Amino acid sequence: MRASVLSSVLLLLHGVAATGGRGGHSAGGGGKDCSVVDASIVAHTGTPVGREVVYKNITIYISTPDEKDARAKARSKTAVLYLTDVFGIPLNQNKLLVDSFARAGYLTIAPDLFKGEPAPADINAPGGAFNVTDFLLKNGEASVDPIIDATVEYINTKLKVAKIAVTGYCFGGKYAFRHVGAGKKGDVAFTAHPSMLTDAEISGVKKPAAVAAAETDNTLTPAQRLNLEAKLSESKQPFRVSLYSGTAHGFAVRANISDPIQKFGKEEAFLQAVRWFDHWLI
Ligand SMILES: *[C@@H]1O[C@H](CO)[C@@H](O)[C@H](O)[C@H]1NC(C)=O
Ligand SMILES: *[C@@H]1O[C@H](CO)[C@@H](O)[C@H](O)[C@H]1NC(C)=O
Ligand SMILES: *[C@@H]1O[C@H](CO)[C@@H](O)[C@H](O)[C@H]1NC(C)=O
Repeated sequence: MRASVLSSVLLLLHGVAATGGRGGHSAGGGGKDCSVVDASIVAHTGTPVGREVVYKNITIYISTPDEKDARAKARSKTAVLYLTDVFGIPLNQNKLLVDSFARAGYLTIAPDLFKGEPAPADINAPGGAFNVTDFLLKNGEASVDPIIDATVEYINTKLKVAKIAVTGYCFGGKYAFRHVGAGKKGDVAFTAHPSMLTDAEISGVKKPAAVAAAETDNTLTPAQRLNLEAKLSESKQPFRVSLYSGTAHGFAVRANISDPIQKFGKEEAFLQAVRWFDHWLI
């Protein structure tokens, strides 16, 4: 593990402390009758409605759209592969976002990327036992890529769906790009505040790719963001990079929804992903 990579990941984890608040407001808001877009589709709090299955010893959280819904009918030949942050599928906000994609009409699947050992929610607890070096060594590309490949196989063979949109957050963002690269089966990618994304991964995208970036993010600094934009432009694939003011690393999942700007950013990032997938997948 190179020191520079490690220190940026450590900064990432400090960012968690700054933005890791759990807001107390219920889902909804922004869905006023006069709105053009109903943002109440995004659940911020509440009880997840999906289920867990095990495939090849990988625990997978699945949320299925209501098949009678017109949104689901329009998207019935597609699935969203949801790649989590370090907190994994145990984090309620991850499960709720998976459910939100299902409410938007997409069959949505989130594998456990960490073999049952995601980062704990209290990652920064003083004296906590979490060892980031060890976590990143255990959960490198050699471990995570095969889990995602197996989940794609599950989607193709068990769920019988061929077209896959990949969405990834923080840790998972890098893998969203990797799985629309050469030889991979993703058809379109979205990532919010990706960390540890390499130039080769950006230049390697073979499908449309979109990014939601936080204003304050030590893992995607303004200089890194400009580099990302330049590399995506060179890739000749359709792309979009959106920067959300008043947000910090993690906002698309763990926004403090008591803060109207953060709540708006999280909802917009979700809607950005759905619009991107709708345009390039359906
Ligand atoms: C969340 O945002 C509200 C409103 O801006 C603020 O009062 C509160 O301190 C924030 N919570 C955390 C944990 O940052
Ligand atoms: C199955 O996965 C669990 C963690 O989710 C792990 O502890 C166990 O060793 C795995 N079993 C096999 C046979 O790989
Ligand atoms: C953290 O994990 C690394 C790699 O496994 C190990 O070398 C190091 O000693 C660990 N640090 C602590 C404080 O346990």
